[in-house]
Amino acid sequence: MSEHKVTALVTGASAGLGAEFCRQLTTRCDVIIAVARRREKLEALASELSDSVEVHCLEADLGTVEGLAAALEAIRQQGPVDYLVNNAGFGTLGAFDQAPIGGQREMVNLHIDACITLCRAAIPFMHELGGGSIINVSSLGAFVSGKGMAVYGATKSFLNYYSQALQAELTGSGIEIQALCPGFVRTEFHDAMIEHGFDRAQIPDQLWMTADAVVTASLAALGNGQVLFVPGEDNLDIARTSLQRQLEDL
Ligand SMILES: NC(=O)c1ccc[n+]([C@@H]2O[C@H](COP(=O)([O-])OP(=O)(O)OC[C@H]3O[C@@H](n4cnc5c(N)ncnc54)[C@H](OP(=O)(O)O)[C@@H]3O)[C@@H](O)[C@H]2O)c1
Repeated sequence: MSEHKVTALVTGASAGLGAEFCRQLTTRCDVIIAVARRREKLEALASELSDSVEVHCLEADLGTVEGLAAALEAIRQQGPVDYLVNNAGFGTLGAFDQAPIGGQREMVNLHIDACITLCRAAIPFMHELGGGSIINVSSLGAFVSGKGMAVYGATKSFLNYYSQALQAELTGSGIEIQALCPGFVRTEFHDAMIEHGFDRAQIPDQLWMTADAVVTASLAALGNGQVLFVPGEDNLDIARTSLQRQLEDL
């Protein structure tokens, strides 16, 4: 039997948090399967990391059945995966009853369907390996219901609930699940919202984190038994305050 290579599959690896997860996972992995739609960005990342890790670039739209099938095939061919980072995502800003429903359905497919499908494919192999780590990139928005982001926040709340329940089912398996709930991170994420009135300058500086800081905190928290992980003290205060208000409203 060939020697097992420690392998990660990272979705949304062409930018932001996903690219940073790939960079920081080089110290833990031999192989990284980097998935996103923009091949040229994936190839640039692969060449940046080529001295330290073997990168397989998979150009796939994970909001489609074909893209998801290609990712499942990559797990079969290059796996089993020790790390699965379900990170690909996007946000929209605007009233639900005025937003095109197609984009909202795409978000549900990408944030929820792709995540649960990849988890379902990866976990049996992780059982065979005797362990593994799954990071589902959620959001602080899962705690704070915000106008203009109804479906976005709801998909992230799904990820929180799902991650907690899944971890409970996997107790004692050696498989750990983290729902990473970042606040504002400086990535491409908000670019598409600018035309709908989002202004980065209106968010206080102290609330912005870098992708580097978020990923460093996320990976450092693996193994601590915490499923819901909110990086940054200010973000943690926001999450706690929001949960407290929800409790008081019951
Ligand atoms: N930035 C923030 O403030 C923030 C806060 C909380 C949570 N998050 C979450 O963090 C995750 C990463 O976001 P980011 O901030 O790093 O944003 P980003 O810089 O816009 O990166 C998003 C990544 O997702 C990929 N992606 C988008 N749609 C895809 C699709 N249909 N199929 C495959 N890949 C797709 C993009 O690649 P391609 O375009 O090449 O496909 C890109 O690599 C998201 O789940 C987001 O909800 C971000």
